[in-house]
Amino acid sequence: MKKGLIIAIDGPAGSGKSTVAKLVAERLGYLYIDTGAMYRGITYKALREGLDLEDEKALVKLAGNTSLALKKSNDNLEVYVDDRKVTEEIRAPQVTNSVSYLARLPGVRERMVKLQREMGRGGGVVLEGRDIGTVVFPTADYKFYLDASLEERSRRRFRELIAKGYKVNLKEVEKEVKIRDREDRSRKVGPLKVAGGAIVIDSTGMSIEEEVEAVLKYIMK
Ligand code: CDP
Repeated sequence: MKKGLIIAIDGPAGSGKSTVAKLVAERLGYLYIDTGAMYRGITYKALREGLDLEDEKALVKLAGNTSLALKKSNDNLEVYVDDRKVTEEIRAPQVTNSVSYLARLPGVRERMVKLQREMGRGGGVVLEGRDIGTVVFPTADYKFYLDASLEERSRRRFRELIAKGYKVNLKEVEKEVKIRDREDRSRKVGPLKVAGGAIVIDSTGMSIEEEVEAVLKYIMK
């Protein structure tokens, strides 16, 4: 028996989907599942172990041997890789710039999708990522695709990084966002695209509160 709805939220980098998914989950009393954090966790471990990011076999093996956990603590979602808390580390620019390489590997995706289905199948969940509505839960009760202009998404990511103390410049961030979008959209397995039946919301010029309300409006009606 499902304990509640399955809500899928997809979209490109900086579309606000993590923040929105988290707040929507809070409002509904649902579990929030950040699937990007799982790809980031594997990438973090691969970099730490000095693996060659071109070595598909080694990376798939690593994904199979790694335990990943998402745990709620107060207002935060803590991310654990092999029981070690890496919530902050997985947001480092080095991880961000490498994650798409791992995420394009079918063997890595297969394992992540399996885990995500196990985490979400009971319902009462908001899952957020790139392929939730297309691959992980195509029969989700609600599917959303959040988007915004490249300029706005890059500005949001830039502000986030500055707030965390990273020294970055806006042009550089915009270039990286553009590259990652291209990689996420063009991979063969689980590419970023609008799922059939998804509600598309463009949040350019919207505040986070407005974006959350725009999503909740559909679910609460
Ligand atoms: O927060 P941000 O948009 O920067 O990215 P994220 O949601 O943390 O995801 C990081 C990366 O993981 C993405 O750029 C994708 O390459 C990959 N990813 C994926 O392939 N499939 C998902 N369901 C979620 C993330």
